[in-house]
Amino acid sequence: MSQQHEAPNALAGLRVLLGVTGGIAAYKACELVRRLREAGAEVRVVLTANAARFVTPLTFQSLSGQPVHSGLWDEAAEAAMGHLQLAHWAQRILIAPASANAIARLASGFADDLLTTLCLASEAPVAIAPAMNLRMWGHAATQANVALLRTRGALFLGPAEGRMAEPESGPGRLLEPHRIVAELASRHGPKPLHGKSVLISAGPTFEDIDPVRFIGNRSSGRMGFAAAQAAVEQGAQVQLIAGPVHLPTPMGVVRVDVRSARDMREAVMARASTCDIYIGAAAVGDFRAHEIAAHKLKKSGAALTLSLHENPDILAAVAALKPRPFVVGFAAETQNVEAYARAKLERKKLDLIAANQVGEGRGFDACENEILLISRDGAERLARADKLALARQLLLRIIEKFEMAKARSGVAKGKAVVRRSATVKRAGKRPR
Ligand code: CTP
Repeated sequence: MSQQHEAPNALAGLRVLLGVTGGIAAYKACELVRRLREAGAEVRVVLTANAARFVTPLTFQSLSGQPVHSGLWDEAAEAAMGHLQLAHWAQRILIAPASANAIARLASGFADDLLTTLCLASEAPVAIAPAMNLRMWGHAATQANVALLRTRGALFLGPAEGRMAEPESGPGRLLEPHRIVAELASRHGPKPLHGKSVLISAGPTFEDIDPVRFIGNRSSGRMGFAAAQAAVEQGAQVQLIAGPVHLPTPMGVVRVDVRSARDMREAVMARASTCDIYIGAAAVGDFRAHEIAAHKLKKSGAALTLSLHENPDILAAVAALKPRPFVVGFAAETQNVEAYARAKLERKKLDLIAANQVGEGRGFDACENEILLISRDGAERLARADKLALARQLLLRIIEKFEMAKARSGVAKGKAVVRRSATVKRAGKRPR
């Protein structure tokens, strides 16, 4: 057994749900529980029925110091902490060892046992440490499942290469527990957005015409909500200004609900000058009715003409603040995506714009998205993926650009100070 140990606080306070699936490597999950706890994590173990054939729930209960959950219909475990509470409790799901069967079931979105149900019901990032026969790992079906889970944001840890239970050698071994803990710890540490405040707008806006009708749009709000979750995961304090959507608030996010573009503008502008990053993911309605009728408009047999006024541009207003946050916009286009998005980046004076094509089941109201990320330095394509996986990638790029912009403004301020003191010195030499 390896003698390497993680730093005692490497996973301090992290709530890890450890899913153990069937396979001979299940015994190594015992050491994994011990090491996770040594690193400061709180651990709750979920065993599949097959895993319980290899190691008893009692072993995991003793090691984790917590009741072990093994079935959807376990009354004692449900009474202690129901499975939905458990899904909400988890900040990280780690499946180790993950069998080929478990990976296939996760890729297919099954929810017929406790572990798969928790994976669907939780918003925690999922890490998977596979362990199986080397041919099962190499099989096209397993590799396709792994690729699919990766596009949904799953992190694969291993498998390692080496000798397995059978007299064969190759990829398929469970990564050593200390390496699994080290991998999680390297992602846990001090978060890049710790102490930073991120303001995000999301969803559509509704512009009332009369007491029962409004002008809206198809935005689901999913991308903005996913960005809010990804920003919390990076350590930020997040405020989310949400148009009318039916989405749960990601854990740790402060949400303010608004309806019209003007409500959204007010809520955003009240907070924008004190935030570090503003992400305008809302599909703000461009027009509002000149007047909202006090009573329901009635048919008269003649055509009805609505007089519409243009709404204020929230994103451009945030970018015009002095001092201003780092400003990220979105551009939903049905054609000429790159050219139109670049024009918006320049016109609204943004730092970054995330452009995507909408229409025909793409972008709006869809679960998946793809993004063309444009800044003054160039463009990068983020491949089609689940919106949360995409939002996590987007946040990493935002952090990178935000830090570059901060470093640049530090240099510019430094130069200004040097210029000012040179001017003062020159002025000092001037004869009076
Ligand atoms: N936006 C905003 N306020 C508005 C309109 C748009 O803050 N009144 C923001 C959106 O949140 C998005 C970006 O501007 O980040 C681009 O939105 P989009 O609807 O694509 O562009 P518009 O500026 O409305 O231009 P157009 O409708 O002509 O494409």
